[in-house]
Amino acid sequence: MTALTLSSSTAAKVRADAVVIGVVKGEDGPMPAPGVEAAGAVDAAFGGRLTALLTTLGATGAENEITKLPAPEGFEADLVVAVGLGPASGDDAPATETLRRAAGAAARALTGTGHAAFALTSSDPAAVAAVAEGALLGSYAFTEFRGEGRDDEGKSGRGRRSGRGRKEEGRDASAPLAEVTIAGLDAKSAKGSELKAVAERAEVLAQEIARARDLVNTPPNALNPAEFAALAGAAAKEYGLKIEVLDEQALGKGGYGGIMGVGQGSQSPPRLVRLTWRHSKARNSLALIGKGITYDSGGISLKPAGSNETMKCDMAGAAAVFAAVVAAARLDLRVNVTGWLALAENMPSGSATRPGDVLTMYSGKTVEVLNTDAEGRLVMADALARAGEESPDAVVDVATLTGAMMVALGKRTFGIMSNEDSFRDLVHGIAGEVGEQAWPMPLPEDLMEGLKSPVADIANVGDRMGGGLSAGLFLKEFVADGTPWAHLDIAGPAFNEGSPFGYTPKGGTGSAVRTLVRLAERVAEEGLPG
Ligand code: BES
Ligand code: MN
Ligand code: ZN
Repeated sequence: MTALTLSSSTAAKVRADAVVIGVVKGEDGPMPAPGVEAAGAVDAAFGGRLTALLTTLGATGAENEITKLPAPEGFEADLVVAVGLGPASGDDAPATETLRRAAGAAARALTGTGHAAFALTSSDPAAVAAVAEGALLGSYAFTEFRGEGRDDEGKSGRGRRSGRGRKEEGRDASAPLAEVTIAGLDAKSAKGSELKAVAERAEVLAQEIARARDLVNTPPNALNPAEFAALAGAAAKEYGLKIEVLDEQALGKGGYGGIMGVGQGSQSPPRLVRLTWRHSKARNSLALIGKGITYDSGGISLKPAGSNETMKCDMAGAAAVFAAVVAAARLDLRVNVTGWLALAENMPSGSATRPGDVLTMYSGKTVEVLNTDAEGRLVMADALARAGEESPDAVVDVATLTGAMMVALGKRTFGIMSNEDSFRDLVHGIAGEVGEQAWPMPLPEDLMEGLKSPVADIANVGDRMGGGLSAGLFLKEFVADGTPWAHLDIAGPAFNEGSPFGYTPKGGTGSAVRTLVRLAERVAEEGLPG
């Protein structure tokens, strides 16, 4: 994992391989970011010719634009990386998410580099946090399954390698940036406790987001429900969490018809994991529920080729919840957080649930399964009903639930649905604060009509139009009355099939982790409104 340090060293003096500075898009080209010493110092060291030099190299200062320059005479570092921050907003510092993305883009451009100093901000804690998060999140690579020719480690038959695939001698050109320094801080801040806490939080957050990304990126033949549960067990031991794992026998006995119905077609049986962080001084409790379909083939309603190669990502909700609970423990948050991981593999076989089957769910409700590819809501419904028995103060579920939400909001924005507008707005506001794109979506009662079944209490699919909202309405049926609940449909942003951007890599993104952690912090600090 990339190391993080704070320093009051200037751009010229900082000992690093590269110095990252910010440039804004001015009328006459890229300009040193106002109010940040380092950008001005680099400009001065170039004899005031930074704008001219960058313009010659084709730079404009547009957001996330990367331009590399040899460092000026007298600098410790060899390389200057200018990252665009977009149009300057007067004398105002750039938005934190602008800084987070710029730092991430710079970190990615420094793949293969040992140590970079980020001199992008003043000592403002929110800005330092954003740069630290962006730099660490941009310094991510998933190398677990990268082969370097066959060796003894590779002969386990499943391709999993025990090493991190990094060469010991010399630097692998594809290795992520190894060390990040936030430089140019004023001396008092760099040594003070406030920024130290900011840096520690950024490291925990980045490590836990990396945990979620790794889980999503792990191929489905190396992560089945039991293996996922075992990883949760290991983390529980490491960080002092309570864990309870229901295996297929316990789930069968317990009447978890939704989780069993989805998992029964697979050779790898389902699990329900309850992972709890308790703080002795907590006044509030949160339940977080994650969809953990380790592979979604669609089941008997099989997905066509072209729609199934990325379906290892269908456990991204459970990965986000797992990461958020561990983060709550590592940050010692004064709130009780229970994570529920609803783990199953959705496969077609002679033992799989058929379209037309009726399942009796944990809550006692019956569900006619009309489409076995609408499996997420079935496992989530059982977990929601079980979680509700403990009367948490609020419930948030996270799921790669519907393609329809992607059609509505695109690949980078998750939808937020809720049984209480004020709670939905709280979660939406928090997502905005931490720089996650999200949007409120309604739960229109009229769509309940489509979920009617002639044989059971409810069907698992409704109208195609508004499919993401029907899924939300289905889940709402399993939420305890009077408990504030929000449903995050992260089908779009959970997995990046396109090129990397900002601090977002290809593949698993860690979507919703920052929102969940910030929500837990908010509840720890202020309780829940109302
Ligand atoms: N896991 C999928 C949703 C999904 C699609 C996530 C694309 C990420 C990317 C989910 O289980 C699913 O298959 N949903 C169906 C529901 C339909 C059958 C009502 C869908 O969205 O097509
Ligand atoms: Mn599905
Ligand atoms: Zn699914």
